[in-house]
Amino acid sequence: MRVHVADHPLINHKLTYLRDKRTDSPTFRRLAEELVTLLAYEATRDVRVEPFDIETPVGPTTGIKLARPKPLIVPILRAGLGMLEGMTRLLPSAEVGFLGMVRDEETLQVSTYANRLPETLTGRQCYVIDPMLATGKSLGIAIDYLLDLGANDITAVCLIAAPEGIAYLEERMAPHGVPIQLVVGAIDECLNDQGYIVPGLGDAGDRLYGVV
Ligand code: URA
Repeated sequence: MRVHVADHPLINHKLTYLRDKRTDSPTFRRLAEELVTLLAYEATRDVRVEPFDIETPVGPTTGIKLARPKPLIVPILRAGLGMLEGMTRLLPSAEVGFLGMVRDEETLQVSTYANRLPETLTGRQCYVIDPMLATGKSLGIAIDYLLDLGANDITAVCLIAAPEGIAYLEERMAPHGVPIQLVVGAIDECLNDQGYIVPGLGDAGDRLYGVV
């Protein structure tokens, strides 16, 4: 698994305000969106393109355009929804699939309650978005769904990751032999006993949408 930490002063500035517990939900949502757009720039560095002939007002030239099939963006609900707008802003022609997952706060086990993905993903570049890579279980399950549908080019985009989650994913993905790319804004210190990233930002879903 290739791990890329998008270390940039603007990303760190926005992450600092995102982490701050005084930041209210509307500001949190705006910052998350802005951050994703910056991370998406890194995550799409290898997006597939094809030549495209055009005429400028001065003469003909060959540029590029995004290749078919269209990329697929998969937010992991609910917190991944907070990253969708920022991602589609950069990839407006992408299609969007959905995976809904919930974590049992006692056992930290993850279960899937919604799965809306294309029938096949052969040849498609997939971008999974989830703000917090904590234990790595949700992302591991999500990537397994994509692999089962034939995906062989998967990038996960997360705002913050824990070293434990990255190690877990690396081990879980190794047998598949499919190159997986992980783009994150920061790698934090560790997970606490409740499975929260330290220092992290708390519960991303709650901070985006309130405690429901
Ligand atoms: N999910 C969150 O929203 N925050 C964490 O710190 C870990 C998992």
